[in-house]
Formats: sequence, C-alpha cells, structure tokens
Amino acid sequence: MSTKWNEDQEYLSIIESLLETKEVQALANYTQHHYTTRLSHSISVSYRSYRIAKKLGCNEVATARAGLLHDLFYYDWRTTKFDEGTHAFMHPKIAVKNAQKITSLSALEIDIIVKHMWLATVAFPKYKESYIVTIVDKYCAVAEVLSPTVSKSQVWLKKIWLKLKVAS
Ligand SMILES: [Fe+2]
Ligand SMILES: [Fe+2]
Repeated sequence: MSTKWNEDQEYLSIIESLLETKEVQALANYTQHHYTTRLSHSISVSYRSYRIAKKLGCNEVATARAGLLHDLFYYDWRTTKFDEGTHAFMHPKIAVKNAQKITSLSALEIDIIVKHMWLATVAFPKYKESYIVTIVDKYCAVAEVLSPTVSKSQVWLKKIWLKLKVAS
C-alpha cells in the first residue's frame, strides 16, 4: 500500500473504535495465511477495500468497517471442522454474529461480511462494496501466502545480478 493505514487519519477515524475492542485485538492471536495474523489480514483487507470504495464513490465507511470485521472468528481454520458445513461456508456467518456483539451492522455491512467468500460459496453479493471486499480478500490471501517467497526471489535475483555485474 502506498499510504500507511495507521497514518491515514480519515480511515482511522472510521475504524478506531472497532480496532480498540478486545474482540478485534484478539485476532492478533491467530495465524491467517501462514505469515500473517488474522488482525493484520483484516486491516489489510479493510484498508485496501476502503481506498478502492472511496475512489469508486462507494460507501467507504461501511466497506472499511465490514472489511475489518469480515474474519471475526476465533478458531484455527486448518484444524476446526463443523458438522453444519465447510469453514468457507461457516466463518462469514460466525463473523457477522461476533461483529453484532460489538457494533450494530447495516444491511450493507452484513452483506459484505456474509458474502466475502463468494465463489467458494454460491450466494452472489448484493452490493458493489461486497464485490470490492471479496475481491480484495482473495488478492490479500494470495499476496500474504506468497510474500516471503516473492521477497526471497527478489533477494536471490539481486545476488545473481550483483554476481553478473562483478563478472562483467
Ligand atoms: Fe474469510
Ligand atoms: Fe479474509
């Protein structure tokens, strides 16, 4: 991200009260995509989605809030299994219930959270903002899984480049 989320006062004013809650802070105790915590993933999804929503003239406040709360669940998704359905199907519903314990959600915010696993789940998002978050969530998941691999490759390429320069 070119702008740091924690230096963006407008963004902070939207999510600050949620971010301060122990329920959201507890996400720091869970690994999300190998190298990131669920909290850093949620902030990343929230902030990237917020910026896109703002550019497109969508509801950036709802997007930022629901983006932050979209993965508000407290279990290890690699090991926890449900009788009622898959993790992809279950955790958006659990996240909405948990989010409603700390704030009141609009219909738009509920749709953003419940539909964020669209494509893994069949129900189509109802709003543009829901599409933004589900796409950004997928982008962040891939980027988070690949980031150490990408940095390692960059270091490796730099080393090769330096060796070639020295040799030439
Ligand atoms: Fe999720
Ligand atoms: Fe997510």
